[in-house]
Amino acid sequence: MRIFSGIAAISVAATVLSAMPVQAEDLALENAASIVRGGQIYDKWWKVVKAEEPSSTHSAYPEDGPRDGSTTWRCKECHGWDYIGPKGRYSSGSHFTGIVGIEGAAGGDPATIAAAMRDEPHGFGADLIDDAAMADLANFVSHGQFDMSSYISDGKSTGDAAVGEPLYATLCAGCHGADGAKITEMPPLGEISSNPQETMHKILFGQPAESMPALYVFGPQVAADITAYLHTLPQ
Ligand code: HEC
Ligand code: HEC
Repeated sequence: MRIFSGIAAISVAATVLSAMPVQAEDLALENAASIVRGGQIYDKWWKVVKAEEPSSTHSAYPEDGPRDGSTTWRCKECHGWDYIGPKGRYSSGSHFTGIVGIEGAAGGDPATIAAAMRDEPHGFGADLIDDAAMADLANFVSHGQFDMSSYISDGKSTGDAAVGEPLYATLCAGCHGADGAKITEMPPLGEISSNPQETMHKILFGQPAESMPALYVFGPQVAADITAYLHTLPQ
């Protein structure tokens, strides 16, 4: 699995913001815009491609699974925010399905991944996810995933909150408020960060159909540091 090894040397916020991004072979920068869009499609594809929200339950979703309806059509619902399905956060609890993660497809040929999405058990036809969006999704699956377990332990980010604080103040607080609770349509960021896998995915890839920036080009350590700071905000 691709682990963004090139960014490891860049650990201090000041350096991150002034340094050139890492080499493309580590971070797949040449495809960054496509990978980021793919990460949002993985989150909630119908928001990104402006398709109708499904109303049924996906046929590949286990009959005795804990969810139903449109959420069962989200890639993340079957495969996890940490991309490793039952080996990760969805190993138990209210999202458990037992369905495999997508980590085995990391580094795979995007065209092959895209073609597989059109077939069973997925059945994502071009009427749902068009070819251009499917290419972005496949780029994300192949190049965008990373090993979240390197940044999360015992349900918390292992990042440095002191590094995350100025990043939050300058990149996020304008929209989310200093306390993370300014956008009232969503739970406060302090509370959301209790799911650090989801939080890191959203920070790196952005929020579907919102103007929120995606920090993918800075690599996962930055997202881990911001998430560590979010843990300190009011719930
Ligand atoms: C309703 C559940 C469900 C949804 C939603 C879903 N998948 Fe899957 N996915 C599966 C199942 C089941 C398998 C295993 C298929 C098999 O082994 O034949 C799978 C396998 C995969 C694999 C291959 C993993 C491997 O290593 O063999 C990839 C890649 C994948 N899915 C990507 C996606 C993407 C991207 C999306 C979103 C467009 C998505 N899936 C949505 C159920 C789902
Ligand atoms: C341009 C404004 C803007 C900026 C800047 C921004 N966000 Fe957001 N963010 C949003 C909006 C809008 C939403 C969606 C709110 C909703 O669901 O109603 C959102 C959603 C989120 C979510 C997902 C919430 C959920 O429940 O789905 C997280 C996590 C998040 N933002 C974190 C951050 C972090 C951390 C930063 C800084 C790195 C940041 N955002 C920067 C506007 C922004």
